[in-house]
Amino acid sequence: MNYRHAFHAGNFADLVKHAALLQVLARLTAQTAPLTVIDTHAGRGLYDLAGVEAKKSGEADAGIARLMAAGDPPEAFATLIAAVRKLNSGGPVRRYPGSPWLIAEALRPGDRYLACELHPDEHGALRELMKARRGVQTVCADGYDAAVAQTPASGQALVLIDPPFERADDYARIVETLAAARRRNRTAAALVWLPLKDLETFDGFLRDLEDAVEAPLLVAETRMRPLTDPLKMNGCALVLMGAPADLAADLAGPLEAICGWTAGSLGQGGAGRVYAL
Ligand SMILES: C[S@@+](CC[C@H](N)C(=O)[O-])C[C@H]1O[C@@H](n2cnc3c(N)ncnc32)[C@H](O)[C@@H]1O
Repeated sequence: MNYRHAFHAGNFADLVKHAALLQVLARLTAQTAPLTVIDTHAGRGLYDLAGVEAKKSGEADAGIARLMAAGDPPEAFATLIAAVRKLNSGGPVRRYPGSPWLIAEALRPGDRYLACELHPDEHGALRELMKARRGVQTVCADGYDAAVAQTPASGQALVLIDPPFERADDYARIVETLAAARRRNRTAAALVWLPLKDLETFDGFLRDLEDAVEAPLLVAETRMRPLTDPLKMNGCALVLMGAPADLAADLAGPLEAICGWTAGSLGQGGAGRVYAL
């Protein structure tokens, strides 16, 4: 496990993932039923953009720094921008929230959040960050296994899957995990983040998911540049599985705005695209 998210925190892919996640959470927490969120790959929860890793990669400078400086970003980014402002007390952006911080802030009393992180150091930081939060549990464990074991048998559930894709079997494990989660709970929803390198890999994943899981899919692609070099991360995709039809329809516009702005303003000749399967 070499991956450290501190190098990538606040990059274009985080902006897309986190703005979309907040849009999904806003709609799920507007329902009366309690919500359970399982975050299979949680990371440490909070990132120091003045730290060695962020400075070395420069990814946050090309991502969140540009979003915060943008004159008129789409409304769909407003909750993320407000969260970053809050975390930095309105001052210069030095800290960037990970999914745990954003989820914990969005949940209501009575909701539940399980954050899984396999790396002991990252989990130690996460546990410390989350220790005073009610309804939040962190585990130093494999997130795929935890999602299969802990998806509640009924009620509103959202599984967030955001792996580092260091391992060749991540695509297969995502499909297995979502199929198992849906067997446990027919209404469980999931938001999956994936890199876009070449289209063959991504299309293959979508086909496998459609074969394994009987659930509607909403796909949001952010292509930062034409996909001509399969060795590069040319963009990212989000797949929302199992959202009720009215919620998915309501999300399409904000997701188009998020992907379109990110590709158009931060990319090099790319584009955003949202479609249902
Ligand atoms: C992309 S980062 C997560 C970022 C986080 N979701 C966010 O948005 O702030 C992926 C994390 O997954 C962890 N990880 C890798 N394999 C894992 C596994 N099988 N189960 C749980 N965590 C894992 C890595 O240590 C890393 O911190």
